[in-house]
Amino acid sequence: TYVIAQPCVDVKDRACVDECPVDCIYEGARTLYIHPEECVDCGACEPVCPTEAIFYEDDLPEEWSDYFRANVDFFAGLGSPGGAQRAGVQDFDDPMIAALPPQNQ
Ligand code: F3S
Ligand code: F3S
Repeated sequence: TYVIAQPCVDVKDRACVDECPVDCIYEGARTLYIHPEECVDCGACEPVCPTEAIFYEDDLPEEWSDYFRANVDFFAGLGSPGGAQRAGVQDFDDPMIAALPPQNQ
């Protein structure tokens, strides 16, 4: 799967969402998350992110390695809700991300 890491937090550009052929990039309160079971590894999202927040799981920088877990755990309560567009914006984040200080200043 691909993973969204820290540079998306408090930015949420959403260019990636328009590129994803399977609509598996879901929106939380402060960042977006790629559904690890729905992502087909097409890679279309990665080059369009202006903050370079998206990585293939094996290429995640060490400092952001916990974002793999965050992208998985975000869906623990959601399951597979049938596409990001239908799911809409969630009002929560993974606790690690929720605890970050504001990133956009
Ligand atoms: Fe975030 Fe980049 Fe997508 S900032 S919403 S991962 S285009
Ligand atoms: Fe979609 Fe990116 Fe995966 S475009 S299918 S989330 S690699």
